[in-house]
Amino acid sequence: MGSELSLQYISSVNSLSNIRSNVRLLKILKILKETPWKKQPFSKQNWGHSLHHMSPYVGKMKPAIAHVLIDLLSKPGDTILDPFCGVGTVPLEADLMGRKAIGIDLNPYAFTITRAKFERLPLEKQLDWLKSVSIDTKSVDISKISDFVKQFYNIDTLKEMIALRNILIQEKRFFLLGALLGILHGHRPGHLSATTSLVIPFKPKTTPEYRAVIPRVIEKVKRLYKDEIPMNSEGKAIFADSRNISLNKNEVDAIITSPPYFDTLDYVQDNKLRLEFLGLNERKRDDLKHNLIQNRNTYIEDMIQVGDNLKRVLKPGGVCIFVLGDMNLSDKKTVNTARVVSKAYESLGFSTFGITSDWMPTNKAIPSVYKRRKLDRFLVMINNK
Ligand SMILES: C[S@@+](CC[C@H](N)C(=O)[O-])C[C@H]1O[C@@H](n2cnc3c(N)ncnc32)[C@H](O)[C@@H]1O
Repeated sequence: MGSELSLQYISSVNSLSNIRSNVRLLKILKILKETPWKKQPFSKQNWGHSLHHMSPYVGKMKPAIAHVLIDLLSKPGDTILDPFCGVGTVPLEADLMGRKAIGIDLNPYAFTITRAKFERLPLEKQLDWLKSVSIDTKSVDISKISDFVKQFYNIDTLKEMIALRNILIQEKRFFLLGALLGILHGHRPGHLSATTSLVIPFKPKTTPEYRAVIPRVIEKVKRLYKDEIPMNSEGKAIFADSRNISLNKNEVDAIITSPPYFDTLDYVQDNKLRLEFLGLNERKRDDLKHNLIQNRNTYIEDMIQVGDNLKRVLKPGGVCIFVLGDMNLSDKKTVNTARVVSKAYESLGFSTFGITSDWMPTNKAIPSVYKRRKLDRFLVMINNK
């Protein structure tokens, strides 16, 4: 298996007696320790529904991990909440597994992709619309487009992209907007930019050439429909701050999420091009950076505010799993984020049942001092109401 595992029982015997089903929780921990997502059928490269590949994201969870966690924590019909849903891996997988899925994120790019995954129309309708749309590039004014954006695109491609974006937003065609964002930049002929990374828009390595937009969006949409997409969905994407969740008390059966871990990843800088394409200029991106939980000094305070909300919306005895990385300090020391959050959440009335650890090979685009390996910790908590 090649992974390093550890299992820590942090709860006292006293708090364990409050847990409705210790047997169930022990089973959950045992299975997490075995890291089933590294075994067949999940170990297959790119395991998961084609919709999971709509658009990339730093810190994106592997769909197989989401699948295993949802399966362990819930049954069809249950409500699953991901309060830091990113591009919607947990909510989409939960939806595909027959759960009521709710995803919350404060990053407009992440929210746009999650919402796109829940817009369900037959493939023919998407393609018919794309084949019949006429985009008027003459009225596109690129004088206010930043030099940062312009360096990635041939000017005619850029005009087509902007014209299409405007119609998609106007007509609320969110799936197609998600597909367009998914090919906004990358290194393949199907992407619209000069050669750069698919995840983070590093300085392009080639001179931008003309790339017709509509045919590339059509091909992208066909790839997304490779696996059958159920037309009925109860999935919900919410653009909001998880320090202030507007769901009802006890509405949620289980919480599965990968929260930010201190300031380890920068969800604004790493998504700069896609955010700018969605209309966030430098000032708005600065505001967003300030509003997201990615500040080392206020991290615990912010996560406690989130925890208060989670405690309210999660049913008594409901299970909450956080997937967290450690924070790397400049002197090569690390902070065990899961342990820090666990301690803070104990004071809110959650009991920590255990923390398991799993070393994963890193995505090359994700900054990591470990270069080839990344540590995921699974913090399992119960809501003692
Ligand atoms: C590790 S990522 C989640 C990735 C996700 N599991 C996926 O597969 O795409 C953490 C997310 O927390 C979001 N976030 C940070 N602060 C937030 C807040 N106050 N409210 C809601 N979301 C927030 C970030 O925008 C980011 O998308």
